[in-house]
Amino acid sequence: MSAKVPFVDLKAQYRSIEPEIKAALGAVLEKGDYILGSAVEAFEKDFAAFCRSRHAVSVDNGLNALRLALAALNVGPGDEVIVPASTYIATALAVSSLGAKPVLVDCDAGTFNIDAKAAERALSKRTKAVIPVHLAGQPADMDAIMALAKDADIPVVEDAAQAHGAAYRGKPAGSIGRLGCFSFYPGKNLGAYGDGGCVVTDDDALAERLRSLRNYGQKVKYEHVEKGLNARLDTLQAAVLSVKLKRLARWNEERARHAARYRELLAGIPGLDFQAPQAGAAHVYHLFYVETDRRDELRAHLKAAGVDTGIHYPKPVHLQPAYADLGLAPGALPNAERHARRTLSLPMFAELSQRQLDCVVGALKDFFAAKPAA
Ligand SMILES: Cc1ncc(COP(=O)(O)O)c(C=O)c1O
Repeated sequence: MSAKVPFVDLKAQYRSIEPEIKAALGAVLEKGDYILGSAVEAFEKDFAAFCRSRHAVSVDNGLNALRLALAALNVGPGDEVIVPASTYIATALAVSSLGAKPVLVDCDAGTFNIDAKAAERALSKRTKAVIPVHLAGQPADMDAIMALAKDADIPVVEDAAQAHGAAYRGKPAGSIGRLGCFSFYPGKNLGAYGDGGCVVTDDDALAERLRSLRNYGQKVKYEHVEKGLNARLDTLQAAVLSVKLKRLARWNEERARHAARYRELLAGIPGLDFQAPQAGAAHVYHLFYVETDRRDELRAHLKAAGVDTGIHYPKPVHLQPAYADLGLAPGALPNAERHARRTLSLPMFAELSQRQLDCVVGALKDFFAAKPAA
C-alpha cells in the first residue's frame, strides 16, 4: 500500500507542469542538439540571473559541480579542504576525488550547519578552501565563514545543493563565495528528471576553466588544453530545468508556508525540537527537520500511520567506513553525531496538501501524547 503522505511527490509536481514539460522536451527532440544544445545555454543564462551571478556553468551532477569547482581552484594532492561532517557524503568525496584531504569539522548544535569556530580551528598551512553546506536549505553562518576565509586568504566554495533560491542577508545562496555548487537531483527544490548540477561564479576566468573542464578539457573541438572530464548537463535535462526554474520561487514559498504551519502546530511538544534559525538566512526548506531522542520509535509510528519520513543523514561523514582513514572515532564531532541520532525529516514538497500536513501533525501528536517525554 502506498503511503497516505509520501516524503516527496514528484508525480504531483509533474502533473502540474506536464504540457509545458512535454513541449520543452519535444522541442529538443525536434532540434536534435542533445549535447550542449541551445536549451543548455538558455538554462545557464536564466539560472545565473536567478542566482544573481555572472556565470552559471551546468554540469552532470552535484558531486561533479563541487569536484570541478575545486579543480578549477587547483585543489589537489597534499591540500586540505574544510568540510562539515553533517552533510551528504558528496561534499567530502569531491575533495578526496582530487587526492586532497577533507578536514571534517563539527556542526553548530542548533542550526546543524558548519560551526565557523570549529572551521577556524581546523585551518592549517595546507588549507586550500572551505566548503560551507547550506543544509536542508538554510544558509550557513556566511558572515563568519567569509571573514575567516578572508583572514586565511582562502576561497569559499558554497555547497548549495539543497538551497536553490535561499538567501543570506539578501544574497542568493551560491553567489556569496567564490563559487557556488548546486545539484539538480530529482528530489531537490529544483530537480531534473535525472542527474544534473551547476556551478555559479562571478569570476570570468574560473567560469571559462569550468566550461573547459566539464568538456574534456577542450576550448575548441579536439584541442585539449588540460585533462578534463565529460561532465556536461544533458540538453533534455536543461529543457526540463528551465520550465521548473520559472516556478521555483513560488514552490519555495509553498515550502516555507508548510514549514511555518508545521512549526505552529507542533510547537510546545516536550522532547520535540526544531532546527534553529540562522540570523540573516532565508530558508527554502529542502528538508523540514524535527529532532527527538526517540527518533527511530517516532519514525516507525509515523510509518504505521501512513506517513513517510527521511533521515538526513543517519551517519555523519567521519563515521562512514569510507572515511575510516581519517581516524576520527565516535565522540570526535559530538554535535554532528547527536544530529545524526536525533534527526527526522518530515514530508516536505510544494504540493503537500493541508490534509496531508494535518495527517503528519496528527500522527506526531498521537505519538507524543501516548508516550510523553519522561
Ligand atoms: C549537500 C549536498 N552536496 C552534494 C550533493 C551531490 O549532488 P548529486 O547527487 O547531484 O551528485 C547533494 C545531493 O545529493 C547534497 O545534498
